[in-house]
Amino acid sequence: MLLNVDDRGSGPAVVLLHGYPLNRTMWTELADRLAPRFRVVLPDLPGHGGSDAPSRPYPMGWMADSVLETLDALGVPSPFVLGGLSMGGYVAQALAVEHPGRPRGLVLMNTRAIADTAEQARNREQTAAQVEQTGDVGPVAQAMLPRLLAASSIANQPGLSERVERMMLDTRPAGVAGALRGMAIRPDRLADLPRISVPTLVVASDQDAIVPVAEAQAMAAALPASRLVVIPGVGHLSPMEAPDAVFQAIGSFLTALG
Ligand code: MLT
Repeated sequence: MLLNVDDRGSGPAVVLLHGYPLNRTMWTELADRLAPRFRVVLPDLPGHGGSDAPSRPYPMGWMADSVLETLDALGVPSPFVLGGLSMGGYVAQALAVEHPGRPRGLVLMNTRAIADTAEQARNREQTAAQVEQTGDVGPVAQAMLPRLLAASSIANQPGLSERVERMMLDTRPAGVAGALRGMAIRPDRLADLPRISVPTLVVASDQDAIVPVAEAQAMAAALPASRLVVIPGVGHLSPMEAPDAVFQAIGSFLTALG
């Protein structure tokens, strides 16, 4: 499936995949900092932002294939640098494992390699069914907002939580349900990580309520060519909450990649 994208800047391509249930605009701060040196490509994953929202589950591998189809249609040359946050990181891992040779470097932000527990998968199905029945993503947004941002970011960065809430409320019910069902069936990637030979930067945050730092450490330990950076004082959406610190980590990773 072809995706809606923002494509700006010039230079080596950096493709960034957003988290659930957000969209490409979560990268605004980071993309502004990268665009003077890189071609920054920001797809809306299926069901999110300006991309279509088919009524079906969105497996991570299918979303990865949609990203590749879109990059090919745009003429983005391979190999490219691929970054993903949370669900975007699940998709990035699927792409790196299933299409080795397409990425030349990975940035895995506030994400994990392990699959859902049976209970997590059941909860996702319950939420998906509820959103489909009611057509209302409001309760999902209300439940997620305090888990996405550190309390200090909400207090000190006026407008940030409203922006994140707006992104969630703009996500269509079919997109929320499709992503939830896709995440619930995602495979455990921890055993695949040793096969990812490209340099990988793992970014975690010490106030992340969704992905504990220990899970980022486990990923970094399983990846043959990885570096872990822990951003202090911020939550799950580190590129929005601490764009300078995340840019510094990614900028030096990209410089070393060449
Ligand atoms: C995300 O931020 O993409 C999601 O919280 C990931 C998840 O629910 O596993």
